[in-house]
Amino acid sequence: MNTIPLHVFVLFLFLVTTISLTPPPTLSLSTSPPPPPRRSLPLVAPIRKDNTTLRYTLSVYLKIPPQRLDLLLHLGGRFFWVDCYRNYYSSPTYRHIHCNSSVCYPFDAVGCGYCSGPPPSPTCSNDSCLYSPENPLILKVGLEDALVDALGLPSTDGSSAGRVEVVPNFLFSCARPDLLAEFPNGTSGLAALGFSNASLPVQVAKARSLPRCFALCLSGSRSAAGVTFVGTVGPYNFLPGIDLSKNLSYTPILLNPHGDTFVVYAPKPTAEYYVNVTAIKVNGKAVPLNATLLAIDQKSGHGGTIISTLVPYTTLQTSIYGAVARAFAREASTAFNLTATQPVKPFGLCYSARHVNVARAGPAVPAIDLVMHGQDAVWRLFGANSMVRIQRNGTDAWCLGLVDGGAEFRAAILIGGHQMEDNLLQFDLGKMRLGFSSSVLVRGTTCANFNFTTGNHA
Ligand SMILES: *[C@@H]1O[C@H](CO)[C@@H](O)[C@H](O)[C@H]1NC(C)=O
Ligand SMILES: *[C@@H]1O[C@H](CO)[C@@H](O)[C@H](O)[C@H]1NC(C)=O
Ligand SMILES: *[C@@H]1O[C@H](CO)[C@@H](O)[C@H](O)[C@H]1NC(C)=O
Ligand SMILES: *[C@@H]1O[C@H](CO)[C@@H](O)[C@H](O)[C@H]1NC(C)=O
Ligand SMILES: *[C@@H]1O[C@H](CO)[C@@H](O)[C@H](O)[C@H]1NC(C)=O
Ligand SMILES: *[C@@H]1O[C@H](CO)[C@@H](O)[C@H](O)[C@H]1NC(C)=O
Ligand SMILES: *[C@@H]1O[C@H](CO)[C@@H](O)[C@H](O)[C@H]1NC(C)=O
Ligand SMILES: *[C@@H]1O[C@H](CO)[C@@H](O)[C@H](O)[C@H]1NC(C)=O
Ligand SMILES: *[C@@H]1O[C@H](CO)[C@@H](O)[C@H](O)[C@H]1NC(C)=O
Ligand SMILES: *[C@@H]1O[C@H](CO)[C@@H](O)[C@H](O)[C@H]1NC(C)=O
Ligand SMILES: *[C@@H]1O[C@H](CO)[C@@H](O)[C@H](O)[C@H]1NC(C)=O
Repeated sequence: MNTIPLHVFVLFLFLVTTISLTPPPTLSLSTSPPPPPRRSLPLVAPIRKDNTTLRYTLSVYLKIPPQRLDLLLHLGGRFFWVDCYRNYYSSPTYRHIHCNSSVCYPFDAVGCGYCSGPPPSPTCSNDSCLYSPENPLILKVGLEDALVDALGLPSTDGSSAGRVEVVPNFLFSCARPDLLAEFPNGTSGLAALGFSNASLPVQVAKARSLPRCFALCLSGSRSAAGVTFVGTVGPYNFLPGIDLSKNLSYTPILLNPHGDTFVVYAPKPTAEYYVNVTAIKVNGKAVPLNATLLAIDQKSGHGGTIISTLVPYTTLQTSIYGAVARAFAREASTAFNLTATQPVKPFGLCYSARHVNVARAGPAVPAIDLVMHGQDAVWRLFGANSMVRIQRNGTDAWCLGLVDGGAEFRAAILIGGHQMEDNLLQFDLGKMRLGFSSSVLVRGTTCANFNFTTGNHA
């Protein structure tokens, strides 16, 4: 189990920095394609779940001609990074970024690099903007050149995928292959969707004059892909013709001023998305919780609720985990006549599958409500999202899919992958609000039901 490390590490970077006081020039490339038309189509990308790590990968294209890359999806990541060493980065369209460029420091660069050895290469250049790519799963950071190159993603009319469109001058950081430790097999970098100028939704919105809004629909299936929509508030049409941009509940997106994990970007807030969970209910009954933990401590940055694609299961601070698990066991017993069986790690509360009925929204168990800022903004977890089926060694059980993160856990709650699957989440960075659907299984579709068969509408 890889939880996010507790401590905040300040990285001391001894760098020659050259921040120019003259107005920064805009980046201009001689080989860049003509600017996109005023009304561009939004883009989509498939998201797959890795069977071994239970983490998610996003597929994109990079370089010209487009080359497919699978990257670890990090909802709270600041910027993309790609291994430029293992398969020596080669592309006719890449460029370094001068340190005086307007996309260097405002886009989270940490310094300016010089390289003694000719010949110049993707990882060796003078006056080159430097980034500090992080592996968010283990305590590891690098210090590498930033590059821009052509990013490719399929366009969409909201109903199916069109041809691959190029986003020129997409900014990312190089990284060494050892930064890929514990990443899903076959990945070669990290895809960042967090709150920053360099994240995918913000770069795409800027390049294509689209709304700063993206949606995430993680598939509950190990074999069929889910989808992210980038640069659109909707429609998000899923077979058989269900628009999941309708009927969302909304809650403000919060930012944490002091929650950076390794490299500290203060005074910028962290790139992770927080929401204001104010209460948890089990079978409609409020669970007694320590309210102090549920709020972000403005001094230490601890506490609060993060939405994270890096943890497979929602992870709760010990006291919250205990209170929710006790309430769940009580309601399962009294209202659903379920008796707990031997638990299976990493879970602490399991039921024999023989005694659990399964309906459209998963096993019939007490619903868990995450109550946001108001009583009408409730993210309801039905059995498909609250329970995990464990079938091995003669055991067949449904386990409560929540994990105890320890007493010193840096957040009160990390809402993890399993709880997001087959839910549509819309991150509107213009309005700074999260739209959430609760289980789309109830509405007769799944996140694997987006039609990725290529049409010709781009
Ligand atoms: C930025 O740096 C480049 C290369 O060093 C130089 O050609 C350009 O004049 C600089 N621009 C400004 C505004 O300093
Ligand atoms: C960087 O500049 C130094 C000093 O001018 C030079 O020796 C070196 O070759 C340059 N490196 C690259 C990659 O151009
Ligand atoms: C990763 O993929 C390679 C090649 O596809 C395979 O040989 C290897 O066994 C895989 N490793 C794991 C841990 O799945
Ligand atoms: C984005 O860049 C602008 C300047 O271009 C800067 O004012 C702003 O603080 C940056 N935002 C973030 C989240 O880094
Ligand atoms: C993952 O496992 C499922 C069955 O559990 C299988 O259908 C699917 O093909 C596997 N995916 C990969 C990429 O191995
Ligand atoms: C959408 O929400 C409205 C009111 O909340 C409800 O009446 C309607 O049935 C919902 N539609 C769907 C398709 O869920
Ligand atoms: C609630 O949590 C805060 C922060 O961890 C702690 O200081 C306080 O003692 C807790 N209160 C109770 C009643 O446990
Ligand atoms: C509760 O479940 C037990 C077996 O798990 C069964 O024998 C009993 O009849 C059930 N009671 C009710 C009221 O359904
Ligand atoms: C979270 O919600 C509670 C209850 O509505 C409110 O008192 C509090 O100010 C909210 N916190 C933030 C940071 O919006
Ligand atoms: C399955 O059971 C055997 C014997 O009880 C045990 O040695 C083995 O570790 C178990 N495997 C798993 C995956 O739990
Ligand atoms: C998926 O989209 C393609 C291209 O737009 C279309 O030809 C096909 O009929 C769609 N499939 C379904 C099941 O609607």
